Amino acid sequence: MLSRAAARTLATPSARLFSSSSARQTKVAVLGAGGGIGQPLSLLLKSDPLVTSLSLYDIRGAPGVAADVSHVDTASEVTGYAADQLNQALEGVEVVVIPAGVPRKPGMTRDDLFNTNASIVRDLASAVGATAPNAHILVISNPVNSTVPIVAKTLEKAGVYDPKRVFGVTTLDVVRAARFLAGVAGVKPSDTPVTVVGGHSGPTIVPLLSQTNLGKDVKGEVYDQLVHRIQFGGDEVVKAKDGAGSATLSMAYAGAKFTNALLRGLNGEKGVVTPTFVKSPLFEDQGIDFFSSNVELGPNGVEKIHPIGPLSAEEEKLLEACLPELKKNIEKGKAFVA
Ligand SMILES: NC(=O)c1ccc[n+]([C@@H]2O[C@H](COP(=O)([O-])OP(=O)(O)OC[C@H]3O[C@@H](n4cnc5c(N)ncnc54)[C@H](O)[C@@H]3O)[C@@H](O)[C@H]2O)c1
Repeated sequence: MLSRAAARTLATPSARLFSSSSARQTKVAVLGAGGGIGQPLSLLLKSDPLVTSLSLYDIRGAPGVAADVSHVDTASEVTGYAADQLNQALEGVEVVVIPAGVPRKPGMTRDDLFNTNASIVRDLASAVGATAPNAHILVISNPVNSTVPIVAKTLEKAGVYDPKRVFGVTTLDVVRAARFLAGVAGVKPSDTPVTVVGGHSGPTIVPLLSQTNLGKDVKGEVYDQLVHRIQFGGDEVVKAKDGAGSATLSMAYAGAKFTNALLRGLNGEKGVVTPTFVKSPLFEDQGIDFFSSNVELGPNGVEKIHPIGPLSAEEEKLLEACLPELKKNIEKGKAFVA
């Protein structure tokens, strides 16, 4: 059973970004804090009452971001670290959020980022494994379907991998699904929460509209367009920014929202359930050992992985298209570290 507060927060996408029901606070690091996502994400985390201390690291610009954000009148302490201070940045950190790496330009898929971002994420994961081996790692850097297995394998090699503590942040897909369905249904996004499963790229993004009251009535062409928009919403932003990057502000919002959900779970709040891309048994028998579905977050990180539930005929087809692509992406990530 969800606690009343948790159920209210999770069922209302437009509810205030942060909720805190418990006193324990936490040291959080942002790796890539100088970037398009990293800067607004750092600002939002500075506003989260569950964050005691914020450690901002980037290969360029983090001390400046930290000086700026540190003037915000919330209780947390903020420290910026220069390129050669990664290990200091990670000391005593319990949650590490990683938006480091290059974003897409028009015409690129997330997989096109692999060559650059794979090594960035591997090296950062390796540093976390050495300095903060018990930290929870939240991966934003794309392609998430591959970077999460890269983090897992890197930690495994270092002998410190705990699958309960590694998460791919797919919250932006959940945020978009609620927002876009609300637009179609003519209601508030708080009335249209949607579970999104699978992975985080085009056809691997599978919104389960049939499991929602307003989504199950969307049919035909409107349904097809809505699903396409949820799967490829990121392309709208990449195109509109015209070479200047991909989603940063909505991603920062989504990243801060997921971080707050994890912190509430770590603090012992019950019933914190949200989709995230984790090591999962759901499709393991098909060789797909990472998958995003509703996950209950708790004191150990992943507390319980929920099954995906009943699917419509359309969603069965979406899942069929998702699985082989996801498998390929996961294998590519693992092979990079092997
Ligand atoms: N998960 C999602 O839903 C989602 C959504 C949007 C973007 N993204 C991804 O997030 C990543 C960042 O996007 P952005 O728009 O902020 O890009 P950006 O280029 O604006 O910022 C990236 C930052 O990472 C830093 N960086 C590079 N190598 C680093 C390293 N080794 N250590 C620390 N920092 C390093 C850069 O200096 C830069 O400040 C991209 O991979 C993008 O595809 C994910």
